[in-house]
Amino acid sequence: MPGFMTWLEASTLGHFMRESGPWTYAIVNLVHILGIASLFGAILIIDLRLLGVWRRVPLPPLADTAPTVAACGLAIALVSGTGLLATKATEYVGNPFIYIKFPAIALGILNAIAVRRSVAWRERSSRALTPAETRRLAWMAGLSLASWLTAIAAGRLIAYW
Ligand code: HEM
Repeated sequence: MPGFMTWLEASTLGHFMRESGPWTYAIVNLVHILGIASLFGAILIIDLRLLGVWRRVPLPPLADTAPTVAACGLAIALVSGTGLLATKATEYVGNPFIYIKFPAIALGILNAIAVRRSVAWRERSSRALTPAETRRLAWMAGLSLASWLTAIAAGRLIAYW
């Protein structure tokens, strides 16, 4: 980890983040927040629906749209986050919140892949889901909310260590 952080801080991206003007970090930070807002906003709606809130709202149209917004938000957060990290990467070595945040992001991504690959998700438009499938998707939605909320909380707390 320290070797990677030293390399990242010395990279072209790190130099650009530090030397391209006083507003660069602030703007990239704003982009990071907008990415997170898009990711979590979309995830929250779909996960609450999978957990049984708004049962009368049909799942297929929601499931066909919200994940695209979430994926774009995630891509924006990953790219802008790498810029923020590169600015002063070595200062984050030993910060416990980065060791919580990155595994939480990885878990959130792996869980989303598992949902998309599940039979229930793939067949949501062609037939009614069984109670067992609905329960399984609800558990995965709970895990998803826990992962992303942990990532957001740890991301914010990095600054307070
Ligand atoms: C490659 C992926 C990412 C990297 C490298 C990254 C890195 C960073 C860095 C370096 C900061 C600034 C910490 C500081 O205050 O000094 C930050 C802030 C933050 N990150 Fe990320 N991040 C990534 C993805 C995400 C994702 C996916 C989320 C949410 C799901 C997230 C949530 C946050 C939050 C809430 C903040 C605090 C923003 C603020 O209060 O200004 N990050 N991130």
